[in-house]
Amino acid sequence: MAKQDDDFKKVISHAKEYGYVFQSSEIYDGLSAVYDYGQNGAELKKNIRDYWWKAMVQLNDNIVGIDAAIFMHPTTWKASGHVDAFNDPLIDNKDSKKRYRADVLVEDYVGKLDAKIEKEVAKAKKRFGDAFDKEQFLATNPKVAEYKERGDAILKRLGKSLEAEDLEDVKALIEELDIACPMSGSKNWTDVKQFNLMFGTKLGASTENTTDLYLRPETAQGIFVNFLNVQKTGRMKIPFGIAQTGKAFRNEIVARQFIFRMREFEQMEMQFFVQPGTQKEWYEVWKEKRMKWHLSLGLGADNYRFHDHEKLAHYADAATDIEFRFPFGFKELEGIHSRTDFDLASHEEFSNKKLQYFDPVENKNYVPYVLETSIGLDRMFLAVFSNALREETLENGTTRTVLKLPAVLAPVKAAILPLVKKDGLPELAGRILEDLKWDYNVSYDEKDAVGRRYRRQDANGTPFCITVDHQSLEDGTVTLRHRDSMEQERIKIADVNAIIGKETDMRQWLKRI
Ligand code: GAP
Repeated sequence: MAKQDDDFKKVISHAKEYGYVFQSSEIYDGLSAVYDYGQNGAELKKNIRDYWWKAMVQLNDNIVGIDAAIFMHPTTWKASGHVDAFNDPLIDNKDSKKRYRADVLVEDYVGKLDAKIEKEVAKAKKRFGDAFDKEQFLATNPKVAEYKERGDAILKRLGKSLEAEDLEDVKALIEELDIACPMSGSKNWTDVKQFNLMFGTKLGASTENTTDLYLRPETAQGIFVNFLNVQKTGRMKIPFGIAQTGKAFRNEIVARQFIFRMREFEQMEMQFFVQPGTQKEWYEVWKEKRMKWHLSLGLGADNYRFHDHEKLAHYADAATDIEFRFPFGFKELEGIHSRTDFDLASHEEFSNKKLQYFDPVENKNYVPYVLETSIGLDRMFLAVFSNALREETLENGTTRTVLKLPAVLAPVKAAILPLVKKDGLPELAGRILEDLKWDYNVSYDEKDAVGRRYRRQDANGTPFCITVDHQSLEDGTVTLRHRDSMEQERIKIADVNAIIGKETDMRQWLKRI
C-alpha cells in the first residue's frame, strides 16, 4: 500500500512539474477536487479526445457527433431520474468527522481482497517461472478461490441492499466487515444517508424572476433530447449513434485521488439507438469494440478487466465497467450500459412530444433502445499518464525518469535540438522546426548539454529528439533519437516529417483494432 501511495504521489508531482495538471486556483490554496490542465496537459487531453472522436464518430458511418449545452431545461433532470435518484449513500465517522461513500468503503475492502489475489499470483509466478499458467492458477488455487468467493458475496450483498435502498443493511455490512475510518482508524459510524450529487444554480437577473437549473451531471441527456433533431436532419437509420464530449459536474462526497474523481470533469459519451429486443447483441458488440480501442494504445492487456454491475442504475438492464489498473488498484475507467428505452420514453412522458422512430423495414413506430458507452476523459488521462511514468535504471547504473506516452497521444511529438548555440546550427534547427510545426506540435530546446536535454524530453514524454550538428550542415542529415529505446539513427532532414508521421499517425494506431 505504501508503495502504491508513493507511486501515486510521484504521478501527481510529475504532472505538476512538467505542466500537465495543476491544482485549480492554487495561489488561493486550491479548490478541492478541481484541477487545471497546463500546457502539456491540454495537448494530451485534446489528443485523447481526438483519438476517441476519430474512432467513435469519424470512422463509423452510422455515428455522428454533437455539442449540446451544459445548461438544460430543469425538467430534463426530473425525466432522467437524476432529481430523485442520482444519490450516493454517505456515512460519517463520528470521531474524525470525515465523510465517506458507504459503497466505496465496502468496495475498497473488496479491493484489498483483490490485492491479496494479485499477491498470490505474483508469488506463484516467481515460484513456477516460465511454466506458470495464470488462468489455471486462478481457477484452482484454494486461497484465491476463498478470497474471490468472499469478495463476490460482499459485493452481491452490497448490490442487493443498495438496489432495495436498504441503507441499514449497508451500515450493518460496514460494521460486520469491521471497516475503520481510513483517516483515524475509528469504527464509530453514523447511519447511512442518501445525498444528491447535482450542482444547482439559478438563471435570471432578479431574485423574483429566476429559474432553478442544474449543471449537467452527465452529457448523455443532451443527446437524448436531440434524438429526433439529429435523426431527422441527418436522415439516420437505426441502428445509429450520437456522440459528444463535454463537461459534466458532480458534487462528489469523496473527491480524492487527484483527477480520478473530480467535481468538474469531462465525459466522452455515445448513445447507440437500436431496435428493441436487439440490445443484448449490441451490448456485446460495444463491449468488444471499446475494449479494442483501449488495447490499441498498448498500455498492456493485463491492465484492463470487465466488472459487471450487480447493482444496476435506474435506467439500465445490463451494465459493465472497463476497469483499469490505476496506481491505487483496479478502478472504473469506462461504463458500458444497456439503457433500455428508459430515457427516451421518460422524455416523451415529461415533454408530451413523441420521440419515436419510424422503422421502414418493420413498418412501425417505436421508441428505440439505447446502448451507451461513457468514458471520463480525465480518468483516461490519468490511466495513460500513470501507466507511462517510469523510473528506469540504465546499463551504466544511472537512472532516468521517462514518460512513455503512446506517441499518438504525446503532447509534443518532437524536440529539435541544435548541438551548440552557434555556427549556424540554431538557424538550421529553426528551419526544421518551422516546417514540422505545420503538421505536429513540436518544441525547440538549445539550453544545457544535449544529454540533459534528452533527459528533459524523456521526462516530458516527447517521443523523438532531432539533433542538428555540424555534419547536418554538410550532408543534410540529423540524429533522430527514440525516447523509449534511446536508440539513435542518422536520417536525412527530408525524411524527418515522414518518420514522425508514421509513428504518430492515428491511422497506424487505430488500425490495430
Ligand atoms: N451517462 C452515464 C454516466 O455518466 P457514469 O458511470 O456515472 O455514467 C461515466 O460515468 C464515466 O464518467 C465514468 O466511467 C468515469 O470515467 C467518468 N466519471 C464519472 N464521475 C467522474 C468524476 N467525478 N470525475 C471524473 N470522472 C468521472
